[in-house]
Amino acid sequence: MELFDSHAHYNDEKFDEDRDEIIKEIYKSGVTKIVNAGYSLESSQKAIEIAKNYDFMYTTAGISPNDIEDFKQEDLDKIENIAKNQKVVAIGEIGLDYHWNTENKSIQKDVFISQIKIANKLNLPIVIHTRDAIYDTLDILKNKMQCKQKGVFHCCPLNKDLVREGLKLGFNISLAGPITFKNSKYADEIINMIPLDRLLIETDSPYLSPEPLRGKRNDSRNVKYIAQKIAEIKDITLEEVAKSTYSNTKKIFQIN
Ligand code: NI
Repeated sequence: MELFDSHAHYNDEKFDEDRDEIIKEIYKSGVTKIVNAGYSLESSQKAIEIAKNYDFMYTTAGISPNDIEDFKQEDLDKIENIAKNQKVVAIGEIGLDYHWNTENKSIQKDVFISQIKIANKLNLPIVIHTRDAIYDTLDILKNKMQCKQKGVFHCCPLNKDLVREGLKLGFNISLAGPITFKNSKYADEIINMIPLDRLLIETDSPYLSPEPLRGKRNDSRNVKYIAQKIAEIKDITLEEVAKSTYSNTKKIFQIN
C-alpha cells in the first residue's frame, strides 16, 4: 500500500536537525509521494531546494495570508518565477485567514486574487488556505476569479457550507489531523459528504499531529491515521482510501 501526503512543510525549521533522515524513513514506510508546500517567497524557494533531492517530492509556491506583512507588489513576479520550476505543481498555499489577521482583509484579498491570476497564467491548480474566512473565500472563487485548473482546499475546515460549495465549484477537499480529534464537530458528516474521487489526505507536518499523537511533531508517516479514519467512516478498506487519494492527488497536481 502506498500513500500520498498532499501537503506538508519540510521547509520548516522544525526539520532542520534530521530532515534527510526523516524523509528517507517516510518513504520506506510507504508514503511514496509528498507535496512540500511553500507559504512565502523564502519557504517556496527552500521547498524546491529540498525537493530537488527526492524524486518523489513536489512543491507549491505562494504567499499565504499570514505571510504578507512585508508584501511588495514585485513579490508577485518573484512567485511567478519560482513557480516556473519543474518541481512546482501548484500555486499555494494562498487564501484568507481572519483568525490570525483581521486588520488587513483587503490586502489579503488582493494578494489571493493576484496569485490566482498567476496560477491561471501558468496553468497550475491552487492550494487554498482558509480560516475563519469561509464566505469571503467562496465569494472570490464564485464571483471574482475563475480558476482554470481548480485545486484543493487544504486542511479543509470542517464546515458543511464550505465543503458543499467547494465541491460544487469543482475543488477537491484535503483532510488532515483535525478529523481524528475527539472534539471535532461534524468530522464524520463531512467525510461522508465528500465523494471518494474528490478526496485528498495530508498531514500539514510539522503541525496538527493526528490522534493518538497530538502535541508531537508531525511527519508524513502519520497520514495513515487520516486514511484510517476515512476508511472507518466510509466503511471501506484502508487500501481503497489509499488508492483513490493517491490517484486523485496525482491527477489534480498533473503528476505522471
Ligand atoms: Ni500548510
